Amino acid sequence: MLIRLIYASRARNLGPMDVKDILESSRRNNAAAGVTGALCISNGIFLQCLEGDRMVVNTLYHRILKDSRHQDPAILDFQDIACRDFGTWNMGLVSAVEDNRALFLKYASGPQFDPYQMRPETLRAFFAELIGNTRWLS
Ligand SMILES: Cc1cc2nc3c(=O)[nH]c(=O)nc-3n(C[C@H](O)[C@H](O)[C@H](O)COP(=O)(O)O)c2cc1C
Repeated sequence: MLIRLIYASRARNLGPMDVKDILESSRRNNAAAGVTGALCISNGIFLQCLEGDRMVVNTLYHRILKDSRHQDPAILDFQDIACRDFGTWNMGLVSAVEDNRALFLKYASGPQFDPYQMRPETLRAFFAELIGNTRWLS
């Protein structure tokens, strides 16, 4: 069964190579596991969307939880989906670089992007807009 899980966590002791390392592992492992999605980093907060088989995504999420590069994880949305939104992305990366700042703030209730405060519906709209309208990092 196909599901989408969205969670947030706070970056912790991130070194300059950590995001690159996370992305490389993600792309390799997620391709092999049939997982797609996107990882956003803004305001010191990770926001990740994972799509794939329910049990596969559960197992991956529990592995990610053990990673010392983040803390305070919270599942913000979990739903079954008819199809993937990030079908071609084993893990896209987005940060609030200048070009994307307005997009991040469009969905923020306060002056800072804070996914912990966002409703599931708002998170879904944010990711849907990200797909078509963002500057992706590689
Ligand atoms: C915020 C965050 C998101 C991550 N997302 C993924 C992911 O989608 N897929 C993945 O395999 N690893 C992800 N990781 C990395 C894992 O925690 C772990 O380091 C990695 O899966 C180890 O795989 P490797 O031994 O093949 O490098 C993430 C880590 C963090 C901190």
